[in-house]
Amino acid sequence: MAKNKNWGINTRLAHGGNDPHAYHGFVNPPVVHASTVLFPDAATMASRNQQYTYGTRGTPTSDALAAAVDELEGSVGTIVVPSGLASVFVPLLGFLAAGDHALIVDSVYAPTRQFANTVLKRYGVEIEYYDPLVGAGISVLIKPNTKVVFTESPGSNTFEMQDIPAIAAAAKAAGAVVMMDNTWATPLFFKPLDYGVDISIHAATKYPGGHSDVLAGLVSANAATWPRLKETFIGLGIPAGPDDAYQVLRGLRTMGVRLERHQQSALEIARWLEGQPGVGRVLHPGLESHPGHALFRRDFRGSSGVFTLVLDGGGQAQAHAFLDALEIFGLGYSWGGYESLAVQVNLSDRTIAKGPYEGPLLRLQIGLEDVDDLKADIAAGLAAASAD
Ligand SMILES: Cc1ncc(COP(=O)(O)O)c(C=O)c1O
Repeated sequence: MAKNKNWGINTRLAHGGNDPHAYHGFVNPPVVHASTVLFPDAATMASRNQQYTYGTRGTPTSDALAAAVDELEGSVGTIVVPSGLASVFVPLLGFLAAGDHALIVDSVYAPTRQFANTVLKRYGVEIEYYDPLVGAGISVLIKPNTKVVFTESPGSNTFEMQDIPAIAAAAKAAGAVVMMDNTWATPLFFKPLDYGVDISIHAATKYPGGHSDVLAGLVSANAATWPRLKETFIGLGIPAGPDDAYQVLRGLRTMGVRLERHQQSALEIARWLEGQPGVGRVLHPGLESHPGHALFRRDFRGSSGVFTLVLDGGGQAQAHAFLDALEIFGLGYSWGGYESLAVQVNLSDRTIAKGPYEGPLLRLQIGLEDVDDLKADIAAGLAAASAD
């Protein structure tokens, strides 16, 4: 089916990727479990001149998901990998080599830092962390051997907004590849490639999957970086399994309506929290009080459902009292599913973006439940924290 470029976002989410008439009219694409692909004759086998050649190189299932994501991201190509963390490390391995220098935002997702500090350093890559508020000032940190600038905005857990166009322009001027972990915003609320980023990264485990039952990652590249990204993906042999790719495409169909609800509920709860006793501040870039709100308004079309609440004083005991009093919010990592979650934030790995904050940080993932129930649950947590 020819896709209409003027379709609204929910129409594109509903119809992107596959063509039902290519599979006898079935609305969803087939889940192709595959290693071997057969060739009709020796000449075709030798030339590999057919659409599919081996399971690791793509199937109709992974292609349907990749095509749907390319439409959303405006990318030339997308790879589908088995976790969000894989969607971080595959491009990093692809564009860095011994002797290179990489600039990574200090408010990056902690396992990304862990990967850089262990594997990348072991392979001889020089790693440097930069202040998320650096903006165009990143140019003074760029060295002749800087090959990658890795951004994530807003920052994991502390939600600093980065000036992505300014950072991307400085990096590009120096010939570095710009990567962005865009998991929080999804391509619905921010399209990195439109702002100078080369490679957009998503833990599809979060909003695209949406139901806390699948691990997957997506990496979408512009024309300049796609050949190297694809070569790295094929070289590593790391495709997502077909059932997981299918689940993510299934999740995309409803991602727009789910995100509307996550956005609305999270903003309502964040605003309400700002007036509650025992709250030091609320770190949500969609709030007018957030120091990055102007950047957020300039570049982003919306906000998702994850933000952090800072208690007004206290320490571990108060944070644990808050978490243990919660009934609806589960205590768990990850986010982007239908259900609300809470976790205490640990900033011990930070070198720059570490506060000071008034008290412990509690990250909340606002799910699809009723807002009044969630407020009552949080109020019980705050009461327990102040009683401790
Ligand atoms: C910003 C961000 N990027 C990447 C990931 C990694 O995703 P996964 O859990 O699928 O490895 C996460 C997971 O929490 C995340 O929050």
